[in-house]
Amino acid sequence: MLAKQLPCPRAKLGQISPDLKPPATVWITGANGLIGNYLVQTAPRFAPQFTVRALTRADFDLLDFAAVRQAFQRESPQAIIHCAAITVVADAEQNPALARRVNVATTQLLAELAAEIPFVFFSTDLVFDGRKGNYSETDAVNPLHLYGETKLAAEQSVLANPRHLVVRTSINGGVSRSGTRSFNEQLRRAMQQAGPGMTLFTDEFRCPLPAAETARAVWELLGKQCAGLYHVAGAERLSRRQIAQALLPRWPEIQMEIQAGSAKDFPGPPRALDTSFDISKVQKELSAPLPGLNEWLARTTADF
Ligand SMILES: NC(=O)c1ccc[n+]([C@@H]2O[C@H](COP(=O)([O-])OP(=O)(O)OC[C@H]3O[C@@H](n4cnc5c(N)ncnc54)[C@H](OP(=O)(O)O)[C@@H]3O)[C@@H](O)[C@H]2O)c1
Repeated sequence: MLAKQLPCPRAKLGQISPDLKPPATVWITGANGLIGNYLVQTAPRFAPQFTVRALTRADFDLLDFAAVRQAFQRESPQAIIHCAAITVVADAEQNPALARRVNVATTQLLAELAAEIPFVFFSTDLVFDGRKGNYSETDAVNPLHLYGETKLAAEQSVLANPRHLVVRTSINGGVSRSGTRSFNEQLRRAMQQAGPGMTLFTDEFRCPLPAAETARAVWELLGKQCAGLYHVAGAERLSRRQIAQALLPRWPEIQMEIQAGSAKDFPGPPRALDTSFDISKVQKELSAPLPGLNEWLARTTADF
């Protein structure tokens, strides 16, 4: 059973919460990953009240629980944003024990250490089976794969603490440090390797969002001491083919036909067809609304 959620106390963007003593250090795990790195880069603008400690595997392996505990005692962070995870669905399926240890056990350890401070956990639209679409925070979950199962188990542990925050997000875009982590980087590479034509699903829907916007939303929610469960995704529901059609004009080196296909003809494991989100809950908390992908592309020349 989930703990009762507290409403967000009101606070201005960048304002230090009365619970945080300056300089307030925030741990960001998975800081080399896509969203973690955007959180690190955007902190000076959106969260000047925090000193960021960007944690990567070079600091410690999160599976070394003794090292995690020691670092927490030594550094006494005043908030944790937990981005590290096994994030590739196929990787989780191939190594379920590792996926459970990283995605569930590590999250439980960090949430336990953070019992008295704000804690943000990232979850996924893949906690849903995709049969309904336009999912709100109160809709029933039913993950189709182990990745979603691990995220759901971790969510439930985190939400047992009424001051902790779970952010479910959809596919995130941007420029990752590895060049391989964002949906646009993966799509661009697949298109470059595909030759003259490529088939993309017209019946699989997501709400893509730039990771920069995800980071802004998280900083704002944290700054306002929001707790509980929030859906943070793009304001536009797009099929895989529509996403490619929106991005293709940004990549003049790629000339190709995008053919229409159906995910129902895909020979692999079952796919969550429509995991689009109702984001009205988070939109009410933000200083500016989360954009849809086309709206965002129209207003920026940033690399994507
Ligand atoms: N990006 C999306 O589209 C998306 C969508 C829905 C939900 N999410 C969720 O959002 C969060 C952030 O996603 P992301 O895309 O930014 O992830 P990402 O780019 O895959 O980065 C994950 C990071 O976790 C680190 N990590 C994994 N195991 C570790 C361990 N044992 N010790 C220390 N570090 C470890 C990885 O380090 P190494 O690089 O050293 O392996 C990596 O830098 C995740 O919880 C993910 O499930 C993301």
